[in-house]
Amino acid sequence: MRWILTINQDKLNEIIGKFAAELGASAQGPAILIGEQLGLYKALSAAGPITSEELAKKTATAERYIREWLAGQAAGGYVNYDATSRKYSMTPEQAFTLANEDSPVYIPGAFYIISSIYKDRAKLADAFRTGKGVGWHEHHNDLFMGTHKFFRPGYIANLVSSWLPSLDGVVQKLKDGAIVADVGCGYGSSTVIMAKAFPNSRFFGYDYHLESIEWAKNVAVTEGVSGNTNFEVAMAKDYPRKEFDLVTFFDCLHDMGDPVGAAKHVHQSLKSDGTWMIVEPYSNERVEENLNPVGRIFYNASSMICVPSSLAQEVGLALGAQASDSKLRDVALQGGFKQFRRATQTPFNRIFEARP
Ligand SMILES: C[S@@+](CC[C@H](N)C(=O)[O-])C[C@H]1O[C@@H](n2cnc3c(N)ncnc32)[C@H](O)[C@@H]1O
Repeated sequence: MRWILTINQDKLNEIIGKFAAELGASAQGPAILIGEQLGLYKALSAAGPITSEELAKKTATAERYIREWLAGQAAGGYVNYDATSRKYSMTPEQAFTLANEDSPVYIPGAFYIISSIYKDRAKLADAFRTGKGVGWHEHHNDLFMGTHKFFRPGYIANLVSSWLPSLDGVVQKLKDGAIVADVGCGYGSSTVIMAKAFPNSRFFGYDYHLESIEWAKNVAVTEGVSGNTNFEVAMAKDYPRKEFDLVTFFDCLHDMGDPVGAAKHVHQSLKSDGTWMIVEPYSNERVEENLNPVGRIFYNASSMICVPSSLAQEVGLALGAQASDSKLRDVALQGGFKQFRRATQTPFNRIFEARP
């Protein structure tokens, strides 16, 4: 019972208060996904102040569920409730983050990623015990959809307007007509955005995950860029073709088992004046500098998605989602690159430029 004497009541209350907020946020995760899936946020934000009956009618859902869902959303601060009229509404900021899929800060996608982790928990716990990997392809589909939905808004907001211009001479080459490989392209969000912006250039999307490549091919058709895109299943270490002007890796280098092998292959596949663009999650150099809300998201996702993904592949270097600039530089230099620099950044991403 000695611990009773050492407990500081204020510090204990602080932890319990934090836990209450976080348990509420965790419970809100699936509710956010249901709101997304059933179009509840979109209908609510479009209709302005409405009752639970009106929202249920508009979305063809059951009122009793919607009433409870709305109260939970209001308690979480994601919608507002007016007690006099019994109506719910969303501010422009709430709608921007929850109802607008093209907004750079669209929140629901992130919760699909979290959902996949819950579903894969048993597999992951086994991997923690054995040290074996869990491949990207072995996760629940929510991971692929969540990655697409969560990353795409950031690419729409930054890729063409700021990330590509931060690289030396790349935008002019893309305007004139460049050959580009987008490696680890997943559902092809980045490939399609670049293909739309630079119709004179040709884009080859590669990923080892067949299901993602099939999705990307369909998106290219619906987005009208099938004329200047190709999607193929390939590993980063052996994708075909050479003489690329630009090779891009969006949030995937650290997921690979052999990033140095991938770097060597990129080096061989680039023109002598080409550019390797590497987008990685935001991180500082040392663990203690990442013990903050953004680092918390990335370390937790990394232990359950990125590290297992790398450990499932040959070499299994497992850089992790918080690999420092120095570690990434080492990978590029070991791959044969002579220059490496952080070209720009956002609160969630670092953008690197490596040159042969
Ligand atoms: C976090 S996702 C990023 C997907 C996409 N670039 C995006 O930004 O939406 C990582 C991707 O890397 C792919 N990947 C992992 N290891 C790979 C490898 N060795 N070769 C090719 N693709 C790989 C996965 O299949 C997955 O699609």
